[in-house]
Amino acid sequence: MRINNLSTHFGIEVNDFDLMDINSDNISVIKDLLLKNQILVIRDQKLSLDKYKEISLLLGDITFYPFSKGLPDHPEIVQIRKEKHQHKNFSEMWHTDSTYLDNPPDFTMLYAEVVPPMGGDTVFSNTVKAYNELSDAMKIVIDNLECINVSDLHSQDRTQHLATIQESKALSSIHPVVMKHPKTGVKSIYVNEEHTHSFNGMTRAESKGLIDYLTNFIKRSEFTLRVNWKPGTIAIWDNRTTQHHAVNDYHGHLRVMNRITLQDYN
Ligand code: SIN
Repeated sequence: MRINNLSTHFGIEVNDFDLMDINSDNISVIKDLLLKNQILVIRDQKLSLDKYKEISLLLGDITFYPFSKGLPDHPEIVQIRKEKHQHKNFSEMWHTDSTYLDNPPDFTMLYAEVVPPMGGDTVFSNTVKAYNELSDAMKIVIDNLECINVSDLHSQDRTQHLATIQESKALSSIHPVVMKHPKTGVKSIYVNEEHTHSFNGMTRAESKGLIDYLTNFIKRSEFTLRVNWKPGTIAIWDNRTTQHHAVNDYHGHLRVMNRITLQDYN
């Protein structure tokens, strides 16, 4: 296994390593790297979808995405597509995955199937570093707040980028504004631009100024890294310590990604 840092503070790229060699006896290698680095970008994988799912289940329980039935033979795998003729993409806004669910996924795995010849990167923010850089006074303000996250805050037709669609009502859930990681105890900013509507007990108008401050703060380049995809790249990230957005800069080209979301095992 050859490891390169993707930034000075989080994220690693793993080369010369085959996920086919991972099983229940050695999955702790991946878990430990993930806990320590927040995002793993594993290159040159050739997993079948069955094997991809089998490996994901070593990390956690599947979280089903409420807006897609998944792939026909693999309901656990959500295929995200941007066709050549489409101008919008899936996930352009900064977010943590599905925080409108009561139990949002702890981990996301994304397996690149088709990537554009240029562009189509995903940018990640280290929301632990962002939290740590806030002033002590700001930390006191947000430490005990809760936020209301909703699935339909912005009018966007995400279904046009999903291989299959599942009808669902709009979803909403309350979460802490500051996430304390259950395994490491580190704190991170857990409000996000795509889904956070307001602070619990406040109106949207009362909340919006601070939500905008925090959601813009995590985008500062000093907190981020950029993942460039190649076919066969698998990224795994911890949603409790990161946020991400997919860069929409490859019009006229196809991009197909297979996503699995997971709840961490205790
Ligand atoms: C996602 O937000 O889960 C997908 C990100 C991407 O397509 O790069």
